[in-house]
Amino acid sequence: MKNPNLKRIVGKVRDLPTLPRTVLKITELVNNPKSSAKDLAKVITDDQVLTARLLKLVNSSFYGFPQKISTVTGAIVLLGFDAIRNLLLTTSVFGLFPRRPRTDTFRMELFWDHSLGCAIGAKVIGDYMRYDKVEELFVSGLLHDIGKIVELLFLPEDFSKVISTVKEEDILMSEAENRVLDYSHAQIGEMLAERWNMSSKLINVIAHHHQPALAGRFSREAAIVHLADILCRAIDIGSGGDNKIPPLNKEAWDALQLKMSSLEPIAVEMERQFNDISRFIATTP
Ligand SMILES: [Fe+2]
Ligand SMILES: [Fe+2]
Repeated sequence: MKNPNLKRIVGKVRDLPTLPRTVLKITELVNNPKSSAKDLAKVITDDQVLTARLLKLVNSSFYGFPQKISTVTGAIVLLGFDAIRNLLLTTSVFGLFPRRPRTDTFRMELFWDHSLGCAIGAKVIGDYMRYDKVEELFVSGLLHDIGKIVELLFLPEDFSKVISTVKEEDILMSEAENRVLDYSHAQIGEMLAERWNMSSKLINVIAHHHQPALAGRFSREAAIVHLADILCRAIDIGSGGDNKIPPLNKEAWDALQLKMSSLEPIAVEMERQFNDISRFIATTP
């Protein structure tokens, strides 16, 4: 760790809420090749809130199954282990941080819209590229800017310096961080993901969503989240804290091998799914 200040920050990150025990247990089960759908169903049904959330979500139009799914085992069989884990992770992360704005200069609800939009964007781009683990892309998009929340909650002085620089100079939040801090939200997000024992793919995507080429063997996934982040801003879904559209990284664009003409249908699909799922999440207990 080259930056001495990061030590201080890691200290603060240690005070962060941990993910609910059930979600960690589920992650363990999913990673164990010997576990069965029955084992997973047992852990979930032990937790009534998670069970209710899961059944609500699988029956939402986001998944669009024609018949009603009324049991946890049914949901697992239909969606698969990884999808279930990511679904529960999503609803748990949403519940972890306050949704109400703490300051009038940073709108938390717009931030969550940005995160959700980016999650959906990453999944839509992944579908378009026929990437096989789109659920993982969804979680990466959802968490890509989570470091900003850590700054807001645990480093409020630094955070307000960043926000006022953004406002005064009308620049990107990452540029402002560069100017007034010696760390970035991407670095903090990386630490948090490590602390939550996330996969190295997820850790790398969060760490390098602004410069995907640095994500090594995960640079394609980082490029997907990078593009989703830009598209969200272009079609005006939420706000990550500034009103700028960052330039599309040339190497990332080359790695994606997409045609310019595919951006329009991707954006339309993002908007459709965003409207659908955000309505659902707002009503989740
Ligand atoms: Fe970011
Ligand atoms: Fe972002």
